[in-house]
Amino acid sequence: MSACTIDGKAIAASIETSVRRRVDALKCRGIQPAITVVRVGDDPASEIYVRNKARKARELGIAGDELIFPAGLTEEALLAEVARLNGDATIDGILVQLPLPPQINATRVIETIAPDKDVDGFHPFNVGLLHLGRATLAPCTPGGVVRLIDSTGETIEGKRAVVIGRSDIVGKPMAAMLLARNATVTICHSRTRDLPAVAREADILVAAIGRPLFVSASMIKPGAIVIDVGMNRLERSSESEALLNADGGKLAQLRSRGTVLVGDVDFARAREIAGWITPVPGGVGPMTIAMLMLNTVEAAERRHQ
Ligand code: GUN
Repeated sequence: MSACTIDGKAIAASIETSVRRRVDALKCRGIQPAITVVRVGDDPASEIYVRNKARKARELGIAGDELIFPAGLTEEALLAEVARLNGDATIDGILVQLPLPPQINATRVIETIAPDKDVDGFHPFNVGLLHLGRATLAPCTPGGVVRLIDSTGETIEGKRAVVIGRSDIVGKPMAAMLLARNATVTICHSRTRDLPAVAREADILVAAIGRPLFVSASMIKPGAIVIDVGMNRLERSSESEALLNADGGKLAQLRSRGTVLVGDVDFARAREIAGWITPVPGGVGPMTIAMLMLNTVEAAERRHQ
């Protein structure tokens, strides 16, 4: 039996509709919600992400500004800029796009953002609240994953959840959110012994490792909810062709365009085992930006309580 596909685009659109309503309600009170997205340097992926974040904000009635600095910006100058944004009463959300150039310590930058404007949920104060199970601005990608799981109508409470990957942006907050919803949570990482056996125990499996098609069908418990956070670009090569040999659609894209986007899960084979599964693209991706908009309107509401 084939898994049901979870439609991230549709779920993101419904979140955006609710954000728009909340933005309109704030505007009725004379409050203009605003986010500033900061980019340093010209990493091509970051350019696209930052532009899309600011554009989506404006689409929903949020003032969305991009602040772009040259790759040679000093850490002191960036910290001063963040301090200025902290002190600007018209700004509700600050996002500094990662990665930053090597001369800038990202930890120091994140710790300088005012926690009540930290719409990424990366500040240690917000991370602490999240791990205490308390209300906070929480990281967008794992927040989106919880919404995707909820959209299946399955309960999280009591289920075995396995998160593959322990990054600060996805893996760790993901585990905290699933724990807060009373799942029994395991985090797997590069040193985990017999990772496939642990993954096979999962009723909910979240893959966030950044390795194309790492999760094979044999790592999936029949009927599991499989969420693929991976976004890996494959270029034309004999290895890419071999990797995609079960996925006619992706293989055709690779051959016609010379490149194709794939997740961390071997979707074509996994869908025959899983109960629910997210595609790449169109699964987790659209949720991240929708959750950022939700955090921005939430930050604005809290600041104007
Ligand atoms: N780079 C990749 N993902 C993210 C994210 O969620 N937030 C920020 N600030 N940078 C990123």
